[in-house]
Amino acid sequence: MATARSFALALLVAFAAILHHAASTTQTAETAAPATDATGFLQCLAVDLPAGVVYSNASQSYASVLQSSIKNLLFVTPATPTPLAIVAAADASHVQAAVRCGARHGIRVRPRSGGHDYEGLSYRSLRAARPFAVVDLAALRAVRVDVKRETAWVGSGATLGELYYAVANRSKRLGFPGGLGPTVGVGGHLCGGGFGTLLRKHGLAADHVVDAVVVDAKGGLLDRASMGEDFFWAIRGGGGGSFGIVLSWKLRLVRVPPTVTVFTIHRPRNQSATALLTNWQQVAPALPSDMFLRVVLQNQDAQFQSLYLGKRSGLLATLSKNFPELGVTPEDCIEMTWIQSVLYFAFYVTGKPVELLLDRGAKPERFFKAKSDYVSAPIPSHVWESTWSWFLKDGAGLLILDPYGGRMGSVAPAATPFPHRQELFNLQYYGFWFENGTEASERHMAWIRDLHAFMEPYVSKNPRGAYANYRDLDLGVNGGGDQDSAASYEEARVWGEKYFKANFERLAAVKAKVDPDDFFRNEQSIPPLPSSRNGLIA
Ligand code: FDA
Repeated sequence: MATARSFALALLVAFAAILHHAASTTQTAETAAPATDATGFLQCLAVDLPAGVVYSNASQSYASVLQSSIKNLLFVTPATPTPLAIVAAADASHVQAAVRCGARHGIRVRPRSGGHDYEGLSYRSLRAARPFAVVDLAALRAVRVDVKRETAWVGSGATLGELYYAVANRSKRLGFPGGLGPTVGVGGHLCGGGFGTLLRKHGLAADHVVDAVVVDAKGGLLDRASMGEDFFWAIRGGGGGSFGIVLSWKLRLVRVPPTVTVFTIHRPRNQSATALLTNWQQVAPALPSDMFLRVVLQNQDAQFQSLYLGKRSGLLATLSKNFPELGVTPEDCIEMTWIQSVLYFAFYVTGKPVELLLDRGAKPERFFKAKSDYVSAPIPSHVWESTWSWFLKDGAGLLILDPYGGRMGSVAPAATPFPHRQELFNLQYYGFWFENGTEASERHMAWIRDLHAFMEPYVSKNPRGAYANYRDLDLGVNGGGDQDSAASYEEARVWGEKYFKANFERLAAVKAKVDPDDFFRNEQSIPPLPSSRNGLIA
């Protein structure tokens, strides 16, 4: 053991010495971080952590550990700035040690739970100027369900699929209202809000957090009582990577009926899709909260996808009263359990084993770029009619419309950092492609950016809203994308108020209190509120 440890230490230090010269920077007036000392950082990790937990750039398994949860091929290129080291934490003390070593030696640490960040900020930086490290939480993924109390403790490194599976395995009448993607990490998802097919009945995933264990910027371990209500408020929707590293969450589970009903029906453009879509905007957010009815637009087709919390007869009665023109028939509807519906919305299949939800996903297979909007008033039918032409263009992708209303609308916008409670629906633009090379990526990026620009007159304004969990660096970056340069509050407001509206100022005030030196910093992390403005919290 001792030999393996000294060998690992020697390797890390040798590698760090090579890096040291290039990476050392002096402290600038604008940043409170100490000079970067990569050698000292790696030595510190080697002393404080057991062998097999730290992967430096020189380690044989570095690339496979780095890529283990990357979902977007855009960020698997030789030019992508990658971490100096990855700490694959297997215990809270490993996370604490990584943070303390980082703070002592000027190496910032980015937490990674499921690696699904749309811009890859949990494992890459925009510019290579300053080395950083990743604390990977994938091994911290235990789920403990308390059926009697209807709660669960879940590690940040668990995937949503693992969480849903564990809950359903313990009780057929309990569920959890999170996102659709089963490989999404619990950590990042809860930090950004999180919504899925139960959002109209139960609101956001983050609305159901009742406690959490966090490593703060000094490496201390806090729970809700010791972190205080402002800190606890900020981690439930204020975006990942800004306040601390959340190790685990205590969740209030929700009740689900023994039978739910799903359907997916297609309505092509030439068969009333535009008229249906136009009506859907008012109908779907006003339906009883047991019914979730989203739309996905692709090619010349509108796909209506629904989850109803009850039997087929209830679904048909609800739709014949509220949306008869959709023409749903009994044959379109499939009754199943809630956990089977999770699988259905993940893969659009039936009859597969629910154990598929435990699959953490393979290597990334596609390039993608996403953007989002909120829609506050119905978009006129002629606008929807013209969006069809966008799907005839080269490089077209998807538009996903998720209706709000129900429980979402009854939570106050300041109750959590997520402010978009009163909107009709979330509109996600999603471009994806499989071809390598800049020509393909420019074509697909242009499609999504141009469509987003085209929609501007018809979506929320002042500010134009966006969903923090659909991270989009086009909205703005801290310090011009240079993570070495301190984020200015005014500069960050440009993107921050789009995600958080008026809650952005309170988030910055919390940041000033819990991480005044801005240790947890990335291209879109919350900056500390300047003291001149900080009268908000005690
Ligand atoms: P990742 O590990 O990349 O982290 C995301 C951000 O949070 C990074 O800044 C990271 O540093 C930080 N972070 C991670 N763990 C942390 C921790 N423990 N403590 C503090 N900060 C932490 N969303 C949704 O609402 N509904 C949905 O249905 C879906 N579906 C979906 C499908 C697919 C395929 C993708 C790629 C994404 C989604 N999303 C989604 C978006 C998803 O909720 C969002 O990307 C989450 O931030 C991902 O969380 P991960 O832990 O996987 O990401």
